[in-house]
Amino acid sequence: MPVQPKKQVTPPSEDKRWRLVDATMRRYNYRPNALIETLHTIQDTFGYLDKPGLQYVARALRVPYSRVFGVATFYNYFTMKPPGEHTCLVCLGTACYIKGSGELMAELERALGIKAGETTADGKVSLLAVRCIGSCGLAPAGVVDGQVLPKVTATQMLQHLKDGKA
Ligand code: FES
Repeated sequence: MPVQPKKQVTPPSEDKRWRLVDATMRRYNYRPNALIETLHTIQDTFGYLDKPGLQYVARALRVPYSRVFGVATFYNYFTMKPPGEHTCLVCLGTACYIKGSGELMAELERALGIKAGETTADGKVSLLAVRCIGSCGLAPAGVVDGQVLPKVTATQMLQHLKDGKA
């Protein structure tokens, strides 16, 4: 009997990065063996995995949540939601890098006094690098607390953090 594509379930938010996650699952026809690749896509585009994301993947691939959680926590490559109250992501994918995201990240590291992958000592901000968030036309792209910021500067990202009371 031919394998039917699984019925899509609704992503945790309107964030366009879920389309990239969906594309990965679709490539595998929503089969359970898409699990690791799908978690990779989430890690690369969001910078971390969190419970709503894992629940979404579990439903979409029809895999028990316990298994998804087990895989997510077993591999060192995957990071569960960073400890910072706010998250500040810089896309270091090729298109963004060409448009200066390397310098953008360096400026944010200087301003926040931390390196990519770290959280400020007061626990307010986690700074993360991601690979490509699927918004290459908006390069350099950054994301503050889930909001994608097109053609962004370090000053703008810091302002968004400030507005979010970071
Ligand atoms: S490389 Fe940054 S959005 Fe694609």
